[in-house]
Amino acid sequence: MPRWLKLPRLCTSVPDIIPRMYTPQAGIFALGTSSHAYLEFDILDAKNFKEFASAISAIREPRTTTGGVNFVIGFRPELWREIAPDEAPAGVEGFNKEIQGADGFTMPATQHDALVWLSGSAYDVIFDMARSVIHDLAGQATLAEETSSWPYRHDRDLTGFIDGSENPTLLDAPTVALLPEGVPGAAGSILLLQKWKHKTAEWEAVPIDQQERIMGRSKRDSIELENKPADSHVARTDQDEFGNIFRRNMPYGSVGDHGTVFVGFSADQKRLSRMLDSMAGLVNGTRDALTRFTQPLTGSYYFVPSVESLRVLR
Ligand code: HEM
Repeated sequence: MPRWLKLPRLCTSVPDIIPRMYTPQAGIFALGTSSHAYLEFDILDAKNFKEFASAISAIREPRTTTGGVNFVIGFRPELWREIAPDEAPAGVEGFNKEIQGADGFTMPATQHDALVWLSGSAYDVIFDMARSVIHDLAGQATLAEETSSWPYRHDRDLTGFIDGSENPTLLDAPTVALLPEGVPGAAGSILLLQKWKHKTAEWEAVPIDQQERIMGRSKRDSIELENKPADSHVARTDQDEFGNIFRRNMPYGSVGDHGTVFVGFSADQKRLSRMLDSMAGLVNGTRDALTRFTQPLTGSYYFVPSVESLRVLR
């Protein structure tokens, strides 16, 4: 038989030996965006979860060569398990129970069915896109929670401290945030979303050197304190102890009522949930001093599937 006749057989076997690669949702790593909207939805009729999944996956972002809107679409982990059981990581759970911490401190559980997080360079496009997303999903789901956010003094949160210093670099962030190839949910991520209200007047009454001991870092340059107190925020969330996460926090709110939208991604939900327990004083009895000046108003976990997992739902 001529040699070339064997080629087709060789070619058809190629897809079997090349492992399928999954791609993360690009919005997870889209840094430098100054306008954000976080839209949390509840399905109108739980039986229609397939129609809802198809509607939300069909959302199209406007794209030109110089601009656009980034999307991150996430699902309540238990809902995602119903939608795509083969693509769901084991053991991931919604924020289903409030965390009862030390001294009566609580973190509320306000889980919803899905999250659409939009980010872009200017609020007008985010506003228009958010309206269009809410409109497109109106037959399937109601908007349960909506927050928009904006940057404060370049990279500071509303405590005045630089936020994100100990974040992994964009080269390391995918390993930290994404499930690895070869497991169900590959290139997906677990997202913790919490809205924290700041008690700004009380915080500003604290002298700066004390604020630095509460945070565990210097205020001006974000240098980690050599002898940071055990109840400082960075001691209670120490990534050497709990594992690495990738944060995308942003300030939200009005002059009279504002705070931080905490957005944390991890390949492993336990890193996030253990940090919350630690902040609440449930790991070693020491509560995070920052929680005396900030109060979580919401709390939910979402599974953010890969682009390929979303694409098949349309
Ligand atoms: C009001 C809410 C919060 C504010 C204002 C806040 C602010 C900050 C600031 C200023 C830093 C120091 C600089 C940096 O490395 O980013 C920091 C560190 C950190 N925060 Fe938060 N944070 C908040 C909530 C949370 C929550 C809820 C978590 C975890 C679930 C968390 C996890 C971390 C981690 C992992 C670090 C780095 C710790 C290390 O040095 O290894 N933060 N945060």
